[in-house]
Amino acid sequence: MHIHVVNHPLVQHKLSLLRAAEISTNKFRMLTDELARLLAYEATRDLPLEPVTIDGWCGPVDVQQIKGKKMTVVPILRAGIGMLNGVLDLVPSAKISVVGLARNEETLQPEPYFEKFVGDLDDRLALIIDPMLATGGSLVATIDMLKRKGCKEIKAIVMVAAPEGVKLVNEAHPDVQIYAASLDSHLNEHGYIIPGLGDAGDKIFGTR
Ligand code: URA
Repeated sequence: MHIHVVNHPLVQHKLSLLRAAEISTNKFRMLTDELARLLAYEATRDLPLEPVTIDGWCGPVDVQQIKGKKMTVVPILRAGIGMLNGVLDLVPSAKISVVGLARNEETLQPEPYFEKFVGDLDDRLALIIDPMLATGGSLVATIDMLKRKGCKEIKAIVMVAAPEGVKLVNEAHPDVQIYAASLDSHLNEHGYIIPGLGDAGDKIFGTR
């Protein structure tokens, strides 16, 4: 499976706090932000570097800089917005592409109701963000859209993944790496991840 479960103690501790039943909106939002930052740190670990010589305080100094990699962060509406600031803290110059998907009640497939992609997608790394990878339908649809627009390098950052969703994404898009704080047990009959976090969108926006 192309899933990187980030076992860093800070990630696991923050995830444990997120799982509490009586967590406040404020705390859930804050922890989501912090987790997004730590997961983005892992997801950007293999960005290519290049040697550069700069003027240092004592003369020329050879340093390593990120090799002109352009990025787009892709929050999936609505819950993905909760992870956006955390990721942008690490990659402040990244451009933002937004995708909104709703289930077509006849086909049961996710269909876009909103999409606004930045340009030059063929030249960018896309970091898709969505707190919960449940069935995987939305993530697969988002990757489909990005690839149709020419994007060649795509990673997904989620807080919690279900094996069902990881399998669907791996089968449809084996080139896409997934970063998560946890690979949980399974989906229940309502499509919620068990043990999961409940409805992450409701908890981030305070609509539960
Ligand atoms: N979306 C959520 O917010 N939670 C789940 O458990 C599954 C999908």
